[in-house]
Amino acid sequence: MIILVGGEKGGSGKSCLAQNIAVYLAKECQASVMMVDCDPQRTTSDWIQARNQDSSLAAINCVQLYGKIRNDLLSLEQHYDVVIVDCGGQDNLALRASMSVAAYTLMPLRPKRRDLKTVSHMDDVVTTCMMINPKMRASFVITQCPNLPSQVSRIEEAKEVCRTYDIHVLDAVTYSRNSYDDSEESGRSVIEIEPDGKAAGEIRAIACELLQQQDAAAISAMLQQHRPMTMGANYGSRRSEEVRYAV
Ligand SMILES: Nc1ncnc2c1ncn2[C@@H]1O[C@H](COP(=O)(O)OP(=O)(O)OP(=O)(O)O)[C@@H](O)[C@H]1O
Ligand SMILES: [Mg+2]
Repeated sequence: MIILVGGEKGGSGKSCLAQNIAVYLAKECQASVMMVDCDPQRTTSDWIQARNQDSSLAAINCVQLYGKIRNDLLSLEQHYDVVIVDCGGQDNLALRASMSVAAYTLMPLRPKRRDLKTVSHMDDVVTTCMMINPKMRASFVITQCPNLPSQVSRIEEAKEVCRTYDIHVLDAVTYSRNSYDDSEESGRSVIEIEPDGKAAGEIRAIACELLQQQDAAAISAMLQQHRPMTMGANYGSRRSEEVRYAV
């Protein structure tokens, strides 16, 4: 199963969500996970490098791929339960190639005008890619929401902007919390630094709603059902060296 976390707005939390969802799926849903970093800034590759320093953390693999990555993704999908693609903050070939094969596309947006201005263009990109991949389920998710009660209306207004387009918007959101930033530094997830914290709950809720499953057990069962016959018992559970492909 391929999950793309993308969008053209920089800093909206794509890498952060991709990484946290990867940990949730690996740790709580027992999935073998491959992350694909399409961003020359290498945010996710650096995070994996930090993560690999601590062998007690659930193994997540990572490769860097750029450009026409459609066939590479299809091939990785044969060997891992989940392939999570972190595309950088722009509309590029890798983003469209990923959308042509992804089962799910998640597009984070902050409840800010400049982020919301990108919705129209992303709607065009999704509509184009769905001509090739009509089964893809694309969703917006509102991230880094303000905690102040006086600003709650901003979150609902942001969702309303998304709803004026055909793309689904998740009920679940992330609030602005230091734990997202704090966990990244050591290659960890909010689930690993504070399993019962509010941020961990947000990640679980986003992953479950995105995949339309009730909980980790249901996600695990779904992944079992879709496990490719080509996967050996241990395939994908190994901690790999970083590999760099230029396509
Ligand atoms: N919910 C949140 N609360 C607080 N900080 C957050 C939250 N989500 C993300 N961040 C922080 O915002 C910054 C940008 O996040 P991230 O790198 O994931 O964005 P991005 O969309 O991948 O950016 P780029 O377009 O450059 O790839 C990071 O420092 C991250 O820790
Ligand atoms: Mg990023």
